[in-house]
Amino acid sequence: MHISFFLMDSKNSLKKTDFSLTDIISIYDFRKEDILFVLKKAAEIEKMTPTEKSLLLKNKIVASMFFEPSTRTRLSFETAANSLGAKIVGFSEAGVTSAKKGESFSDTIKTISNYADILVIRHPLSGTARRAAEVSNKPVLNGGDGPNQHPTQTLLDLYTIKKYVGRLEDLKIGFVGDLKYGRTVHSLATALTHFNATQYYISPESLKMPKHISDEVKEKCKVFETEELEKFIPEVDVLYMTRIQKERFPDQLEYEKVKDAYVLTNASLKNAKKTMKVMHPLPRVNEIAVEVDETEHAIYFQQTAAGIPVREALLEILSKVKK
Ligand code: CP
Repeated sequence: MHISFFLMDSKNSLKKTDFSLTDIISIYDFRKEDILFVLKKAAEIEKMTPTEKSLLLKNKIVASMFFEPSTRTRLSFETAANSLGAKIVGFSEAGVTSAKKGESFSDTIKTISNYADILVIRHPLSGTARRAAEVSNKPVLNGGDGPNQHPTQTLLDLYTIKKYVGRLEDLKIGFVGDLKYGRTVHSLATALTHFNATQYYISPESLKMPKHISDEVKEKCKVFETEELEKFIPEVDVLYMTRIQKERFPDQLEYEKVKDAYVLTNASLKNAKKTMKVMHPLPRVNEIAVEVDETEHAIYFQQTAAGIPVREALLEILSKVKK
């Protein structure tokens, strides 16, 4: 189903635009127009007054269902819902729900769909957000499903890049760290195929980008795969650092071998372009030294702030969906 919206164009005239999605599950579902539509909507919402915003989701209820820990995704979704005038129900861990008594995931989702207008879900298993969207008659937003996808993070990453680098097209971007289990890099690498990005995958051999993702990206973009970080720092416009995710390793000895593979310091940035920006979806452990926070390269806390307008835009768009 396509839903139609009216957006102001650069000449201040109203232009009809279609958004093609009823749920936000995977960045693979997005056309380039859908991505640009969300970013434009977020920029519009960011300019609104608190009172204007507070009417957009008045009388709506957002279910915030976090089966896995989160700071940024949950709290920025809940802040966004609050600022749009919605009410929030939900939980921040599975252990306080009837899943603990053996209730199936599908039954949980069908039940909550009777209480809320929009569902936000994070879950440790790949594919759960898609399953939720299939069984729910309400729009579902994926706040991260295991190592698979994190599409709302990608949209806020793109919003941040547009704002602080100044463009989305023709970027050179280095993805560093856990590219195997990193859902944020899976989603962002795919999204950037719409924008002709040259992509550098910098990881230990055991944490390489999954082949099905790198093969698809290579059909549209130049890709370099390497274990060396410092050699490529002077090349890139954006360095996207990630945490080595201890919780995703089936073998903790394997984690111990790679946990400190990359630590970005001011010294390692000495040959970076002056305009190069360092991003990180956070949380970080020790892959970016705190000293980097004070440099002009660091935009990872601005990146967390972008979660608000982008998630406000997504909630507002999906509040108009009829499934
Ligand atoms: N970036 C991100 O998903 O952070 P949280 O795990 O804190 O939500």
